[in-house]
Amino acid sequence: MAGLEGQAKRAASPASGGRPARWSCCDGEGAQAGPDAAHSSREEVPPVDEMREAVRRKYAAVARRADAEAGCCSAAGAGLEDERGEQVFGASLYGQEAADPGTAAAIEASLGCGVPTAVADLHQGEVVLDLGSGAGADVLISARRVAPRGRAIGLDMTDEMLELARENARRASIENVEFLKGFLEDIPLPSASVDVVISNCVINLSAQKERVIREAARVLRPGGRFAVSDVVADDDLDPADVAHLASCTGCIAGALTERQFIRILTSAGLERIKVTPTHRVHRHASAAIIQAVKPSARKRAPRQREMQRRV
Ligand SMILES: C[S@@+](CC[C@H](N)C(=O)[O-])C[C@H]1O[C@@H](n2cnc3c(N)ncnc32)[C@H](O)[C@@H]1O
Repeated sequence: MAGLEGQAKRAASPASGGRPARWSCCDGEGAQAGPDAAHSSREEVPPVDEMREAVRRKYAAVARRADAEAGCCSAAGAGLEDERGEQVFGASLYGQEAADPGTAAAIEASLGCGVPTAVADLHQGEVVLDLGSGAGADVLISARRVAPRGRAIGLDMTDEMLELARENARRASIENVEFLKGFLEDIPLPSASVDVVISNCVINLSAQKERVIREAARVLRPGGRFAVSDVVADDDLDPADVAHLASCTGCIAGALTERQFIRILTSAGLERIKVTPTHRVHRHASAAIIQAVKPSARKRAPRQREMQRRV
């Protein structure tokens, strides 16, 4: 999609100087792990692999810290507050689930910006895939909902996060889970193999968002649901705002706007798209729940026939 690559470029470009001090909230690990950490020239756009490696390094460090601090404030250092110091990411967003001793440790280590399982309408027997599962909170919650016959799969590229998630599942004695190593951009699962794709604040981290959404659509069964929480940027940000938002949310590739999200979901063949903002996470961005459905096989057939006729 035209423009998104440019957005990644803008996100990697320098923020304007002279911002009021109260906005310079994000000089922590997230910003250091961004493309600028690996590049002396701030004008350069790092290749996709390098951007992904910067993200991986950041979350490996966060996971190591969460592991060391398990049982206390595990997600410490991950930058869970907004510019005003309010907690807009992580465990504080969870309600009743946080009271479940089985899932409490994973939720404590959450780095998400919402609770996708609250809207995913999960049913017993379903297969759920969590893109960028981190410490595993949403996978464990899903696994409980779809048990006993269903299962929940967490996908993450960071070994340290996968270890943490497996340990959290073991401690919670939840067995209908599986944590896979891999990239969102190349999901290691067969087509049409899952009922629900969830994700919590991860798609914004990818420099190849269209590819991620295409992959999500591919692995969904016809009629399958897409229900993710993510950061959604306001329209019409200038490059300095994009860069500042990127450093604050850790999304070095830049968050999508609602319109961009809808366009990408539509071109991946998803429908019944709904974007529901939940809370502000930055002066130029909200967290939102993004929902869509893969058309059922019955509905798709006439459209495919039409396409074939045109060709
Ligand atoms: C912001 S954390 C969110 C973790 C979890 N969803 C939560 O709510 O706590 C991002 C996670 O996604 C993983 N991740 C980021 N980009 C990825 C990619 N392209 N492929 C696979 N995993 C990725 C990171 O390793 C990290 O564990």
